[in-house]
Amino acid sequence: MTITHASNEEIIGRSEINDIEAILSVCNTDPNEVQHSVKGGGDTIFTWDYSLARPQLRKLYEKAKTGQWNGSTDLDWSTSVDIEKTITADQLLIGSGIDPSLYANTPLAKWNDKEWLEFGIESRRWTLSQFLHGEQGALVCTAKIVETVPWYDAKLYASTQVVDEARHVEVFARYLDEKMGGMYPVNAHLKMLLDDIIKDSRWDMTYLGMQIMIEGLALAAFGYLHELTGEPLLKKLLRYVMSDEARHVAFGVLSLKEAYEDMTDAEIKDRQEFAFEASIRMRDRFLQQEVWERMGVKPRDVVPITINDPTRKFFQQLLFAKIVPNCKKLGLLDRNDKWLRHRFEEMDVIQFEDHEDTGEEFTKFEIGAPLATVGE
Ligand SMILES: [Fe+2]
Ligand SMILES: [Fe+2]
Repeated sequence: MTITHASNEEIIGRSEINDIEAILSVCNTDPNEVQHSVKGGGDTIFTWDYSLARPQLRKLYEKAKTGQWNGSTDLDWSTSVDIEKTITADQLLIGSGIDPSLYANTPLAKWNDKEWLEFGIESRRWTLSQFLHGEQGALVCTAKIVETVPWYDAKLYASTQVVDEARHVEVFARYLDEKMGGMYPVNAHLKMLLDDIIKDSRWDMTYLGMQIMIEGLALAAFGYLHELTGEPLLKKLLRYVMSDEARHVAFGVLSLKEAYEDMTDAEIKDRQEFAFEASIRMRDRFLQQEVWERMGVKPRDVVPITINDPTRKFFQQLLFAKIVPNCKKLGLLDRNDKWLRHRFEEMDVIQFEDHEDTGEEFTKFEIGAPLATVGE
């Protein structure tokens, strides 16, 4: 039986992945919303089999127990953070993240140092805010995994991840509040993805959306910012969070590898489409529409350039450095006539396929271990 995948239109709501009007039409309709409720799908599963069936997951569980840290006492919250100085120093290293020379015919042409600095500050605040909202997504998704995964060893492990994510929400929220002067609301593309993950009733889809896609991207993004920033509190915060995140992605890879082994082509097709949808949503959010609006610039005037800006593109591609090899390890790239491989080719991220996957890599991220450069 030949498997036919759904069209781009059906999966992501537009036929062209770079359709800017369609991307920008997704925006936060209620920035003041305080509570957001989603009907979660899926059965809660008890298991009476308490035997050790998955030693690798149990090993990860043991690691998690000894890898705990305390967000209120292990980080020095008395550190004073001068945002302007921090961003100026960080910008000296990598610039503003976009190439100003490409924006000659836009409102950015009139920007002087003051605006570029302001842009840098808003970008940092926006980035950390989306990390925070993603962390809450991870908290909720992993609590759901505790309920829905049928395996005892996975329930034990997931319970430790719930505590980890609570700590991540705690430290990012505190950093934004005390050191950055506030936060941005959740980005609409990210929110849409979180909703889709929670709504899906199949337990492995929670893992695929969260542990593989969102956390895979987070691990790369945290690594990049950790390496870049000279601000000591943020640097240490990210280092600690990464030591947990690497375990989380490993949890996803180990669990799904087993779950996908016996899946039919038709079942794999659904997973491939979901991985593609998640990739597009995450890429769309990095266009940071809200930052442009805060800067008084219409996103429509700059995003068509940003989407092809090589500086930005390089950064965006780096974010897939963990996702692509992990999808390959799970067998998602090449099943069904290499469908996902072709999608990643279109997105220009396939070059990461042979990078190290995160199934075993987590020991490298343990607190105290020296870190390799992201993308290596
Ligand atoms: Fe996290
Ligand atoms: Fe995580």
